[in-house]
Amino acid sequence: MNIITNPQQLQELSTQLKKDQVTIGFVPTMGYLHDGHRALLRAAREQNDIVIMSVFVNPLQFGPKEDLASYPRDFEHDKQVAMEEGVDYLFHPAVEAMYPVQMSVTVKVERRTDCLCGRSRPGHFDGVATVLMKLFHLAQPTNVYFGKKDAQQVAVVDGLIEDFHFPINLVAVNTVREEDGLAKSSRNIRLTPTERQEAGILYKSLSIARGELIKGNVDVEALKNSIIALVEKESSGKVDYFEILTYPQLEQLKERTGKVIIAIAVQFSNARLIDNIIFELS
Ligand code: PAJ
Repeated sequence: MNIITNPQQLQELSTQLKKDQVTIGFVPTMGYLHDGHRALLRAAREQNDIVIMSVFVNPLQFGPKEDLASYPRDFEHDKQVAMEEGVDYLFHPAVEAMYPVQMSVTVKVERRTDCLCGRSRPGHFDGVATVLMKLFHLAQPTNVYFGKKDAQQVAVVDGLIEDFHFPINLVAVNTVREEDGLAKSSRNIRLTPTERQEAGILYKSLSIARGELIKGNVDVEALKNSIIALVEKESSGKVDYFEILTYPQLEQLKERTGKVIIAIAVQFSNARLIDNIIFELS
């Protein structure tokens, strides 16, 4: 496995690979890799000639009061995982290499961000889209891999690829969970032991809401309120949002058919966790 730190070097490499008609699978991450990231790497390994992964904690997508400084990092571990999963090129640039001067152009996401994490984290998806714009130009992938755990991110990337004519195929990979249903996340390590016990309620609450919707519970507002009350009774976390929306448009549910996302964000003492399920209502 080769480690690349220089953006230009990555672009030269991918340009050569393209000339050679090699398919490139690209997995962007912020590191501190776990089984969720491994699922993306495995899909990429199966479906491409060459796999490139980036490990870059992108300052642009963190708000001023968010956890950029304390975001967990362990590059030695990430290198090991990358090797185990058959990554060919690991891109690990310094912040100064990605953002040498204040940028004169950034990307602003116009739709699909006035709800869920877009509403709670203003500017977050602009930062995600801006770094991905750079990474897509550097890695020039055939296929990119994103986790459904961050479903709103998938919706935003879908728009980025379409609106800016990237010749890239987007692959969305199912959420990998712990035994009690908690979605694997780099931030889970920051839960206290008690909070870790309680955190199973996120997935449980999504499943209960899905059951109610499928059964025909039509009062979406009442359902949302009862689930929020349940989560706050069963855990010490504070519900940031609990939403039931159409997917991938992320609009309020008007009809009782079609694809639906139920999504939750809960703030614990030192970690904000998110999860969602997407399913068809018929
Ligand atoms: P990060 O949080 O490191 O996640 C990298 C990728 O792993 C994302 O596509 C995310 O959805 C996926 N992922 C995380 N947990 C998962 C799980 N339990 N199951 C399946 N997939 C999971 O998302 C980012 O980084 C950044 O925003 C990034 C796209 C790299 C841009 O900076």
